Amino acid sequence: MSKKVFIKTFGCQMNEYDSTKMLDVLHAADGVEQTTDIGQADIVLLNTCSVREKAQEKVFSDLGRIRELKELRPGMVIGVGGCVASQEGSHIIKRAPYVDVVFGPQTLHRLPALINERQRSGRPQVDISFPEIEKFDHLPPARREGGSAFVSIMEGCSKYCSFCVVPYTRGEEVSRPFEDVLVEIAELAQQGVKEINLLGQNVNAYRGAFDKSAMKAVGAGSSNMAGEPGKDFADFAMLLDYAAQIPGIERLRFTTSHPRDFSQRLIDCYARLPQLVSHLHLPVQAGSDRILAAMKRGYSALEYKSIIRKLRVIRPDLLLSSDFIVGFPGETDADFEQTMKLVDDLDFDASYSFVYSPRPGTPAASLADDTPASVKQARLKRLQDDIGARERRNNLAMVGQVQRVLVEQVARKDERDLAGRTPYNRIVNFAGPVSLLGEMVEVRITEAFAHSLRGELVTP
Ligand code: SAM
Ligand code: F3S
Repeated sequence: MSKKVFIKTFGCQMNEYDSTKMLDVLHAADGVEQTTDIGQADIVLLNTCSVREKAQEKVFSDLGRIRELKELRPGMVIGVGGCVASQEGSHIIKRAPYVDVVFGPQTLHRLPALINERQRSGRPQVDISFPEIEKFDHLPPARREGGSAFVSIMEGCSKYCSFCVVPYTRGEEVSRPFEDVLVEIAELAQQGVKEINLLGQNVNAYRGAFDKSAMKAVGAGSSNMAGEPGKDFADFAMLLDYAAQIPGIERLRFTTSHPRDFSQRLIDCYARLPQLVSHLHLPVQAGSDRILAAMKRGYSALEYKSIIRKLRVIRPDLLLSSDFIVGFPGETDADFEQTMKLVDDLDFDASYSFVYSPRPGTPAASLADDTPASVKQARLKRLQDDIGARERRNNLAMVGQVQRVLVEQVARKDERDLAGRTPYNRIVNFAGPVSLLGEMVEVRITEAFAHSLRGELVTP
């Protein structure tokens, strides 16, 4: 019987993506299947996050519980991957000696070999190196059921915002070669995928190498003539142009982009490419220029606004979501009011917002921080309530509209219903046959709730 793996994923979409790849490599190497019942698992993997303190603490409390399971099933393999693994390395084995393998975001493709070596040598294995783009070269081809897929186009981050651990845990920005990305998208399209979500820490910092002579043969233009002889680099706008031409690809999303790299060429894509959705997640973090500078974000509130205003000239229906950090060291009431003003000016529709959490090893961790926790919590609540009210208002305004929906799954609450996603990233529940799973359909919105919509099928 094939072995079973249970994977628990913490944190961001990059980690969600990496977890699917862990499954793919274990399946390709040893026929391992996924289980959602940890009691059945031969391998238990924690794909960890260290972006905030709470997520990091949770890993060790979870490990304590998994240890009890291992005592009942002595052959069980426990693996810790992701950003906590990358940061802590062999300290994890010191603190939790029953852990068998520790691997980083860039070495997950070595997981089958690490597990084999653990079993052969009898010693725990740690590999948290950054072998650059090797990861992508060793991943099995994407397998996909359903209409939507993530495609990772770059890894890591070189922005070094003063509060963030990611450049240290995931390494510097490295882009996947242009042709490799396009081939993966074309393969997914052949499997029936209609929506591609291009994934990376800063997708618009993409600089994918490509073979100029090969691209000339298919009539490609060039965006940047620098590079090795015979080689060139494609930027993110060029990648979008090519991805949009792949037959079967009806929708393009991307996550996450960075305001500093939001070029005019990328803005122009919104005028040219109907496949690009009118929904953008663009992290701003704060509305005060003083705080943005202390965060080392590399833009002002006005520069951020100017990107959004240009986009809304092209796409008046654009809905905007963002990441915010509240209570960064030294944030005053006046600074926070500027964040609230920005929210009002740009009408953000959704947010991932958190109170600042000092991360060891980052420059901001040594800054004086005298704002009481209660004040930070109150600011966060105000921000979230304000943005939540905007989301509800926008949902209400959608009632009566017919929207194009990609059917994702049978609805959680009522299995007679289907659940799909609109271009604006809203979940819509509606009655329909399961034969529509993975298809694009037109749905009339009939009811609005705080975080979802209800609708009726217009055309099957
Ligand atoms: N690449 C993205 C960008 O352009 O900013 C961000 C990726 S980061 C891993 C995801 C989010 O986590 C950030 O946008 C930020 O809001 C939040 N975050 C990162 N470090 C944090 C910290 N020390 N405290 C609170 N939130 C943090
Ligand atoms: Fe982190 Fe800033 Fe990069 S938030 S992931 S260092 S863009």
